[in-house]
Amino acid sequence: MVSKHFELNLKRFLAAASDEFAAGTSPATRRTAQMLRSSGITIADTPRTPIHGNDAACSPPDEINMLLGREPQSACLTAAASVYRELDWYESTKSHTPYAEIIGPSSLIRSLELRFGLFLLYSDIVYPDHQHAADEVYIVLAGTGEWSLNREPYQDKTTGAIIDIPSLTVHAMRTAQEPTLMLFSWTGVDISFETYQFC
Ligand SMILES: [Fe+2]
Repeated sequence: MVSKHFELNLKRFLAAASDEFAAGTSPATRRTAQMLRSSGITIADTPRTPIHGNDAACSPPDEINMLLGREPQSACLTAAASVYRELDWYESTKSHTPYAEIIGPSSLIRSLELRFGLFLLYSDIVYPDHQHAADEVYIVLAGTGEWSLNREPYQDKTTGAIIDIPSLTVHAMRTAQEPTLMLFSWTGVDISFETYQFC
């Protein structure tokens, strides 16, 4: 059971996240914005599970607290701050990075068409080249990260940046001294992890 207070804050967070995705121009950003707007807060009544069965549960990352209060602080970051401690955080066995999937096939809010949540890259991390069938979008909420798409040189991305990663694009991420907090979405014809591979 979740509290009414959490449910209200979660609703505000999803609305603020929808506005962030609506600022994008790609089919994936528009699709995500629309799905976030239409997703009611129906908390799943069956157990929530991590994206991969062996991802270990972890505490909400301290780095998020460190990133809060940084300027510019968007409405979405403020809304994220009000819910992140109550979300289910796991550390990915694939990338050794913490995530909280809020909407997804086995998450708090069930969907077979959308994965959405918060994702954190610790400082001094390299998340190497990989690809998957889903269209992925990252939106930087706080901190600075670098992205490489199609094995091209890394580009700096900071608060408000939208990183559009169409289906099967080879992509990598890395951080320097600063961690990066992001929204993520997976949409498209296949949001399973069956095609996920490092390359
Ligand atoms: Fe990815």
